Amino acid sequence: MSANRKLLMLPGDGIGPEVMGEVRRVIDWMDKRRAVTFGIDEDDVGGAAIDAHGTPITDEAMEKAMGVDAVIFGAVGGPKWDDLPFAQKPERGILRLRKDMDLFANLRPAMCFDALTSASSLKPELVSGLDLMIVRELTGGIYFGEPRGIEDLGDGQRRGYNTQSYTTSEIHRVVRVACELAEKRQGRVTSTEKANVMESGILWREEAQHIRDSEFPGIEMDHLYADNCAMQLVRSPKQFDVIVTDNLFGDLLSDVAAMLTGSLGMLPSASLGAADATGRRKALYEPVHGSAPDIAGQGAANPLAMILSFAMALRYSFDLSEDAKLIEDAVDNLLAGGMRTGDIMEAGMAKVSTSVMGESLVRELDKLAA
Ligand code: IPM
Ligand code: MG
Repeated sequence: MSANRKLLMLPGDGIGPEVMGEVRRVIDWMDKRRAVTFGIDEDDVGGAAIDAHGTPITDEAMEKAMGVDAVIFGAVGGPKWDDLPFAQKPERGILRLRKDMDLFANLRPAMCFDALTSASSLKPELVSGLDLMIVRELTGGIYFGEPRGIEDLGDGQRRGYNTQSYTTSEIHRVVRVACELAEKRQGRVTSTEKANVMESGILWREEAQHIRDSEFPGIEMDHLYADNCAMQLVRSPKQFDVIVTDNLFGDLLSDVAAMLTGSLGMLPSASLGAADATGRRKALYEPVHGSAPDIAGQGAANPLAMILSFAMALRYSFDLSEDAKLIEDAVDNLLAGGMRTGDIMEAGMAKVSTSVMGESLVRELDKLAA
């Protein structure tokens, strides 16, 4: 059978290559056992690309990313590249991918697997059954706004500055994605900004409400200041269904939401562009965790966020929800069976390596699909 889906794998740095290796196992399994096959290309990104090509992502790799059905991304960065000038840092690789592919909608689900309720830093009753979705705007705001820079004021002082800015259409398109997702969930969207101190927040609030009123009358929308939202997330996270917010607040709030679920090592994400005439969206899938240089190369990383990111690719890029569900169920079963990597280890559980977790997952898939 010839490959009918095109993927570009960008493992990157730190634990990126290790966790990506476990996705390969899952893909091999799908090639053999399911009605879909994948053609895989691979390239460097981040520090690995800097070492090999002198840039955090080459034009050739960018071209490949533009041509595939989905990019599967590991993680970038590490102490080795910390002293590089800002514009050459590994992080510029992922930022260029997001910007050039116009991946404006970043979906970061925070789900608490039953077996992990006690791994959360919050009380189990606050997080058991938690299932919320953060939709983070990913190509605008202060991450990309101009003017930006560090200037010399000449009197021994320097000034660093960035610009937060959003246009109506930037707000509209990401709020639409949030409302569409909410329609398939509990029908509630919380829009989050700092309208009490920022003009861009005032515009965000007005335009989010406008999209709800004019296009999604069935959706319940409320508005929270971002600081209050952070507080509510740790006070009573189950009150949320979908949270939609800007690039910077989304970065912060999604780390908070991730920790509610026990570990950053569990959380996947999808970054989506606009749908073209055929309904196809450019897409990139990456775990929320970073490159974790402190544990890289030791076989200690949790591959589940990366594998669950691949499951999101099946759901959002390939319309293979059944296969995505199979992977999610397999993860559920492994955790229920007591298997843990170091990041989610608890007394009485079995601590396993990255590859044992991956191998076990494939065995679980075999059982579920039998
Ligand atoms: C994330 C990361 C990135 C971000 C970094 C690596 C540039 O923290 O994806 O949340 O700030 O967006
Ligand atoms: Mg982040």
